[in-house]
Amino acid sequence: MGFTVAIDGPAAAGKGTLARALAAHFGFGYLDTGLLYRAVGARVSEGQDPVVAAHELSDADFARDDLRSVEMGGWASQVAAIPEVRQALMTYQRDFAARPEGAVLDGRDIGTVICPDADLKLFVTASAEVRAKRRWDEIGQSMPYDDVLAQVRDRDARDMNRADAPLRPASDAQILDTSELSINDVLTQAIEAIAALRNA
Ligand code: CDP
Repeated sequence: MGFTVAIDGPAAAGKGTLARALAAHFGFGYLDTGLLYRAVGARVSEGQDPVVAAHELSDADFARDDLRSVEMGGWASQVAAIPEVRQALMTYQRDFAARPEGAVLDGRDIGTVICPDADLKLFVTASAEVRAKRRWDEIGQSMPYDDVLAQVRDRDARDMNRADAPLRPASDAQILDTSELSINDVLTQAIEAIAALRNA
C-alpha cells in the first residue's frame, strides 16, 4: 500500500490547496472528499432522496459547474449529517486511499474515520473570519461578506456537532493554523513531515 495523507479541517481553511500541492509534489493521487458530499447535495437540491443519491453518484455528477458554490456547501453539510450517506461513500474513499502510488484525501473525517491508519494526519484550521474572507474572495465578492461568514459559521456548527463522524482533529493529527501562515509555509512544513516519514 502507498503512503496516505489525511487532511481535515473546517470550511475554507486551505485544505484543498495544500492537498493538491502535496499530491503534485509527491506524485500521489488526490481526492477532494467534499465534492462527494456536494454532488449528493446537488441531487438532493433537485428533490432526490439523499441515500439513493449517494448510491447513484457517477462521473457526470462531478462535471456540474455549481458544485463549489456557497449554496451547495450548505446542501453538502446537511446530507453529510446522514449516517447512511456517509456509509455509502466510504468504500470509494478507502479504495482511493489505498492507491499504490500514494494518496492525499481532504475532508472532515479522513483522519478519524476513513483512514485512521494514515501515515500522516494534518488538521488545517484558521479563524472563521479569515476563512470567510478567503471564500468571499474566491467567489469574487459576489455576495455580502457577512452572509458568507454566517454560512461558514453555520456549516462549522453543523459539521462539529453532528453525531456521526463530527469534525475534530484525530488524536495523532498535527494542527496547522493558517490564519497567519502563508500556504507556502504550510506546504513546506507538510513536505518536510512527509519526506521525514518516508525516509524513516
Ligand atoms: O471546500 P470546503 O471546505 O468549503 O467544503 P468541502 O470540503 O467541499 O465540504 C462540504 C461539506 O461536506 C462540509 O461542510 C461537510 O459537511 C461535508 N463533508 C463531510 O462531512 N466529510 C468530508 N470528508 C468532506 C466533506
